[in-house]
Amino acid sequence: QAQDAAAGEKVFTQCKACHQIGEGAKNAVGPVLNGVIGRPAGTYEGYNYSPANKNSHLTWDETTFRDYIKDPRAKVPGTKMVYAGVKDDKKVDDLLAYLKQFDAT
Ligand code: HEM
Repeated sequence: QAQDAAAGEKVFTQCKACHQIGEGAKNAVGPVLNGVIGRPAGTYEGYNYSPANKNSHLTWDETTFRDYIKDPRAKVPGTKMVYAGVKDDKKVDDLLAYLKQFDAT
């Protein structure tokens, strides 16, 4: 199943209500997502995370991200990301391709 960044950008419109990404991105309702794949949970500078997220001891790799985005509150009970999740595996793959385009800056 190929990952399609352009399709992922469309899925990301759902995330934009709370997250910024790309050049000049700032923390908003949720943290900046530049470089999120590969990043330890709860570590984007200047963002006020929930204790649940900070103490999850997760690193966002493909596996943990997949689990989280399908059902955030199942993966991290107590997270303040109040979002139903993306249930469709293909959409999650595409989201990963999109997110991986943005380095940690
Ligand atoms: C946290 C991704 C949609 C609000 C996070 C984290 C990821 C993520 C990976 C953890 C970041 C970290 O630990 O640094 C996404 C994606 C979305 C999405 C890919 C769309 C598919 C949303 C929406 C909202 C939201 C719609 C608001 C309604 C938050 C908040 C946090 C967070 C508040 C911080 C969680 C905490 O501290 O417990 N998101 N998110 N997200 N997101 Fe989202």
